[in-house]
Amino acid sequence: MPIKTIIEPFRIKSVEPIRWTTRAQREELLKAAHYNLFLLPADNVLIDLLTDSGTGAMSTNQWAAIMQGDESYAGSRSFDRFRNSIQDITGFKHVIPTHQGRAAERILFGVMCKKGDVVPNNTHFDTTRANVKFTGAEALDLVIAEGKQPASTHPFKGNMDVAALEALIQRVGRERVPLVMLTVTNNSGGGQPVSMQNAREVAAVCKQHNIPLYFDACRFAENAWFIKLREPGYENHTPKQIAQEMFALGDGCTMSAKKDGMANIGGFLCTNDDLLAQQEKDLLILTEGYPTYGGLAGRDLEAIAVGIQEALEEDYLRYRIASTAYLGKAIAAAGVPIVQPPGGHAIYIDARGFLPHIPSDQFPGVALGCELYLEGGVRSVEIGTLMFAKAAQMDLVRLAIPRRVYTQSHIDYLVEVILEVFAHRGQIRGLRLTYEAPFLRHFTARLEPIEAA
Ligand code: F0G
Repeated sequence: MPIKTIIEPFRIKSVEPIRWTTRAQREELLKAAHYNLFLLPADNVLIDLLTDSGTGAMSTNQWAAIMQGDESYAGSRSFDRFRNSIQDITGFKHVIPTHQGRAAERILFGVMCKKGDVVPNNTHFDTTRANVKFTGAEALDLVIAEGKQPASTHPFKGNMDVAALEALIQRVGRERVPLVMLTVTNNSGGGQPVSMQNAREVAAVCKQHNIPLYFDACRFAENAWFIKLREPGYENHTPKQIAQEMFALGDGCTMSAKKDGMANIGGFLCTNDDLLAQQEKDLLILTEGYPTYGGLAGRDLEAIAVGIQEALEEDYLRYRIASTAYLGKAIAAAGVPIVQPPGGHAIYIDARGFLPHIPSDQFPGVALGCELYLEGGVRSVEIGTLMFAKAAQMDLVRLAIPRRVYTQSHIDYLVEVILEVFAHRGQIRGLRLTYEAPFLRHFTARLEPIEAA
């Protein structure tokens, strides 16, 4: 094909205005938000890269499906479509809808874990870690060494260290490891993929010890695309075939449909285990809802049934991954340290490398996020010492790209903002905490800048 430009594979039918603020306004707003971008009113954000979760644009087919929503309390037709679509991709026997990913996590860990247990993952996401801990179990990250080195260009930095998994099971004993989890792609580790080879090896260790393997499948479609691009032998597979092959290695999954489900809300929990499914549905009824809706409206189930298939379309994935890489390459070429290679849903700036004069306990990631907002009204999120406290392996600022929302000129603006901040990075100061909650503190924390000595 002579034309090389990868374009957005859609045209825009409905638009949502965004609002400029002045720098003086942003200074006031940031102060009022206690230097925590979660506490900012979203109307005052120009480009919102806080998350790719629930922030995507739905397609005409999803909106059409929404009108078909069957809001019956029990036995809804929409649930049948939801389950069929998910089973078509995952092959799992039981599909339990939940209002979002963390509800699936709470139910899964609530049923499977107890005090003293250990749950290995490549890297737990914050809610996953918190839900494991909430049961009294320990959440352990076993990502490969390359996964902790921002500059390493290993093609599958989300891989689990299989030898470390084996050693862990030997050390604590099989009975203390109720399940193993693989997060695809590895969000907290930089949106990095897990290879099929690695999933196969992890599955083999699990099988040998009779431990169930679950996927945290939020970005399974993006992971499949990376396998197609980077893993020998998968060039001619469709993303769907790759996803099917990966899910076939596991016993179940948790899913936030707000990511590769292409929906604004929703999630699910899958398992092949009949007894577990029964216990999970009992818990579901207690707090989420009846098992054919699980806290969602019938129309949400329809949007997910369609969206999860669209996430696997090649034109979409080609554009999605290329546009994230476009941002990463543009700022990296100017010297901004980022987690390499660019992730699927986000670019992660290495804040320790960007702001070497700010020690970790003064939250370099938060400081950089605040500065990006001041400079250009851009909202990002810290994934580092504020989020994970002492467990933080890195201090990152994540620029998460909502699906099908921003165009290339938005990204060009963003590049300009980041490079402007990079040019005056020496003037940026660290922060200290003035309030923190007992868990998931980053959502509500309050901070203040540390005055220059
Ligand atoms: N697992 C991973 C890997 C995630 O990235 C998320 C959410 C969850 C589980 C929980 O799903 O939000 O639907 O309850 N990540 C969002 C983010 C919030 O911004 O990365 P949820």
